[in-house]
Amino acid sequence: MTEREPGSLTWPRGLSGMCYGGDYNPEQWSLQVWAEDMELMRRAKVNLVTVGVFSWSRLEPSPGVYRFDWLDQVMDLLHQTGIRVNLATPTASPPPWFSFAHPDALPVTRDGVRLWHGSRDTYCVCAPAYREACRRIAQALADRYADHPALAMWHVHNEYGTWCYCDHVAVRFRQWLRARYGDLDALNEAWNGAFWSQWYSDWDQILPPRATQYLPNPTQMLDFRRFMSAELLAAYQEQRDILRAANPDIPITTNYMFYPGLDNWAWSQQVDLTALDHYPSATDQRAEEQTAFGADLARSWARGHPWLLMEQATSLIYTGDVIATKEPGRMLRHSLSHIARGSEGALFFQWRAPVAGAEVYHSAMVPHAGPATRVFKEVVALGEVLERLEEVRGSVPRTDVAILWDAEAWWAVESAGFPSTRVRYLDAVSAAHRVLWRAGYVVDFARPDADLSRYRLVLVPSLYVISDEAAANLTNYVANGGHLVVSFFSGIADPRHHVRLGGYPGAFRTVLGIRVEEFHPLLDDAQVTLSTGDTGRIWSEHLHLEGAEALAHYVGGCLDGQPALTRHRWGKGVGWYVSTRLDDDAYGRLVFRAAEEAGVTPPPTGASGECEVVRRWGAHSSWLFVINHSDRPHHIPAEGVDLVTGAEVRGQVSVPAGGVAVIREAR
Ligand code: GAL
Repeated sequence: MTEREPGSLTWPRGLSGMCYGGDYNPEQWSLQVWAEDMELMRRAKVNLVTVGVFSWSRLEPSPGVYRFDWLDQVMDLLHQTGIRVNLATPTASPPPWFSFAHPDALPVTRDGVRLWHGSRDTYCVCAPAYREACRRIAQALADRYADHPALAMWHVHNEYGTWCYCDHVAVRFRQWLRARYGDLDALNEAWNGAFWSQWYSDWDQILPPRATQYLPNPTQMLDFRRFMSAELLAAYQEQRDILRAANPDIPITTNYMFYPGLDNWAWSQQVDLTALDHYPSATDQRAEEQTAFGADLARSWARGHPWLLMEQATSLIYTGDVIATKEPGRMLRHSLSHIARGSEGALFFQWRAPVAGAEVYHSAMVPHAGPATRVFKEVVALGEVLERLEEVRGSVPRTDVAILWDAEAWWAVESAGFPSTRVRYLDAVSAAHRVLWRAGYVVDFARPDADLSRYRLVLVPSLYVISDEAAANLTNYVANGGHLVVSFFSGIADPRHHVRLGGYPGAFRTVLGIRVEEFHPLLDDAQVTLSTGDTGRIWSEHLHLEGAEALAHYVGGCLDGQPALTRHRWGKGVGWYVSTRLDDDAYGRLVFRAAEEAGVTPPPTGASGECEVVRRWGAHSSWLFVINHSDRPHHIPAEGVDLVTGAEVRGQVSVPAGGVAVIREAR
């Protein structure tokens, strides 16, 4: 199958405006309800629904026997109603008959427990029977619907990310390792098999990292994660190629979730449209932080192409033990926060709340109480707003600040047996994003080997593993005038998970002008004080200056007088280093100082975490999104027309508590 240039076919066929809708599961309902659904979707101005995500057992009730009658009717009905279909392949949930026919395709945990059927995602991606069944059902759907007039896009699978440790996985893992290392000696060296007598003498001795007596081998773990991401991607590609061959004019995607499981940079080369599911997990301001974080990531993965918020919740924030309710207005604000950051629409899980089943209390666009509800009113109101935003499509936010994002660094930095389990990749990256978001900056994420020349400032949180090439890329970035703010536990290891010897932070010593002799991780109740009066937690280091200047020292304790924060002129740029986990205010001060020295474009006036102000730029116009999350009005300088109200804006826009505005700017 020839590769399609990423971004060459990025938009659901037949849609011109913002996408609006959600997962639609009509197979749970009667024909009467379908008729009401059409009426309500029209009322809400829904234009795109995802159908069939978990419909395998209704589409293929027994092996090779297909029942398309109901789906034919749904597709036709939606077409008559003028609603486009994002048709899913149902492979995230094989039917019970499949699991009984192929018990070897049920997933096995690290402990060797084979899971039973009874939920969703009970499959092993490496089981040949599973892969074959996926190809068959994808082919059957392609044969039947590739030319259906309602079909706008294919949605392959759902949230790839299911792992397994069975014998099928062992076979595929070995094949992947052979391709990576060529011969066993290279593998043994990479995995340092000389330690703990782990030298393999035959490929068949190599296993997925199953539960074992004590600490697992970190390189084996890292390779397994690389392998799983690649194997899941191969499974996606198999289905994609079948669908594409049936009709090359239909874009194809899959929806990402925030698992640590996927290398989304690699995946995003293989999808026509980047699609993200996003569910904040806290009810306070972290919900808005997380929303902006997810949206900035999705836009970055899409590399400047449109992306789509494929799922969110209308009225729920699941905190882990409570299904909390989203306050009135919050759904609109979250939707616009995604759209301000590049999403070309807002979709939900799901259209109608079901009467029973595992997610019976998951909020929906039509709640259990029906359409005469606060939630449905807000759904209709959002549909109206999105219709008015059609002209915004194709524009993008611009920024000259980036944070490096790397799945391998995530996987590696959380290895068992490391100095501190408190060093979590997502904590480090979201702290970097948070301080910038709160100050009103829009931020891109970038891969360590990307061309960074358009950024004046690049933040590097806990980038534990880095290749020589990527390290050279960052060094050149600084040499050419960039400002790099590196925080602790970065640059330590090479891609084989081997420590770079001679002092930390290995790959960044030269550009930062420092050498770290020893880590001093901190226990929960401990903190370090700096000469600036700031405090640090989690981590500290015994650091030597090798060309850098100290911006702050540790005070007291065994690191008394040692440098803690440093700055190093290198070529035309500057490398900054943070050797402890500063609190947000102190970290922010350092980052903003670097931003100022780097000449970063300031955020729009009035922008903050309380009131997001984000500009999307088009070829000839720009649009200013103002999203007021606070309980007081905000007054933001602006000139133009507010697309939400239609009102002219002269000099400033006043956005009430909880309100929004999208201003087409007069230029
Ligand atoms: C998503 C998933 C949906 C639904 C939703 C609930 O991750 O794709 O099918 O389960 O979560 O929040």
